[in-house]
Amino acid sequence: MSIFHFCCDAEIGRKDNYSRWPKLPNVYHMKKILIADDDDLVRDAVIKILEMFGYEVTDVDNGQSAVNILNDKFDAIILDINMPGMDGFETIQAINKKDLGIPVLFLTGAGSMEYAVKAINLGAYDFITKPIEDLDLFDVKIKRAIEKRMYVLQEKAYKTNLEKEIQAKTKELAEKNILLREYSDQLEISTVNAIHTLQNALEQKDRYTAGHTNRVTNYSLMIGKKMNLPREEIIILERACQLHDIGKLIIDVSCIQKPGPLNYKEWQLVKKHPEVGQSIIKPLAFLAREGIVIRHHHEWVNGNGYPDGLIGDQIDILAKIVTVADSFDAMTSMRSYRVNFSKKKALEELKRCTNTQFDEKTVAVFNKIIRDVNINKIHSNDRQKILK
Ligand SMILES: [Fe+2]
Repeated sequence: MSIFHFCCDAEIGRKDNYSRWPKLPNVYHMKKILIADDDDLVRDAVIKILEMFGYEVTDVDNGQSAVNILNDKFDAIILDINMPGMDGFETIQAINKKDLGIPVLFLTGAGSMEYAVKAINLGAYDFITKPIEDLDLFDVKIKRAIEKRMYVLQEKAYKTNLEKEIQAKTKELAEKNILLREYSDQLEISTVNAIHTLQNALEQKDRYTAGHTNRVTNYSLMIGKKMNLPREEIIILERACQLHDIGKLIIDVSCIQKPGPLNYKEWQLVKKHPEVGQSIIKPLAFLAREGIVIRHHHEWVNGNGYPDGLIGDQIDILAKIVTVADSFDAMTSMRSYRVNFSKKKALEELKRCTNTQFDEKTVAVFNKIIRDVNINKIHSNDRQKILK
């Protein structure tokens, strides 16, 4: 067995790798073979044999012509080595550049090892010794070359199909991801809205607190916008505001409505609402940051707030914003136990409590944006207008 046959056998050994591919019909029927040989007698003889075996043959008498007419419709190429002009070795190099994957068989009477090695290194598939005396061997060699060609074509088709399939699957997956994202976003919005509606309903029961959450949300968004917070932060801020007093839903804070100051026990109960609020939304993982803001919207920058007594930068900037907005609205709204402050007086109070209760930067920003605003006109629920 020659080293060329070893190569052929190795290819046949790979057959199992392609077993899942569909078989091509009439694999050996009327396959096209290109032959280049300057010797008319040899060329005619080979053509006759090939045609006898049922192949369609195209012949040329030099390497350059072979390269010129070669296309991917051919299934095998037979090249003479010694040809005038471009010899067989130069021809196969030019053929290789076309990268068509068509097996090349060298036709030569000089079967020296030196030629064989050179041919192999250049990518030859097999050798055919001339004159052709063993027709069965010739037939086997051509069939193997054709079979190799079939594998190449099937592999190409397989890769093309695979690429198309991967592209289609990737597209399908991307579309599903978009749908899933939209569904998830919608679910998040619906969940927040549902909780917010409950909180609003609670507020509406008390004429003194009606609209408080919406006003706190609007003030906070005005501050956030002025601070140029990223869109993601604004969304969290809005949600945190809408839910900031959600803890009051499940603890009895009816004492808030009573005239006069709270006693110690009542005050301790009211102080629980930030923690309770955070725990209510804790199962909703997408509201984790909002939970932190809710928990800390009664912290003071000097550490005297509740529930954790955080100081300065330990408090989330969004919580600092809600604190200012919440306090301003509480001061400017009527309560059962006191008359509401004017805007001017509430701003003075914010300023007085800067660096104790309130964050200095947040108060400064709020002062700038609220100074020339009629607060009675921004109590609407029109967030889009504020965020314009
Ligand atoms: Fe609160």
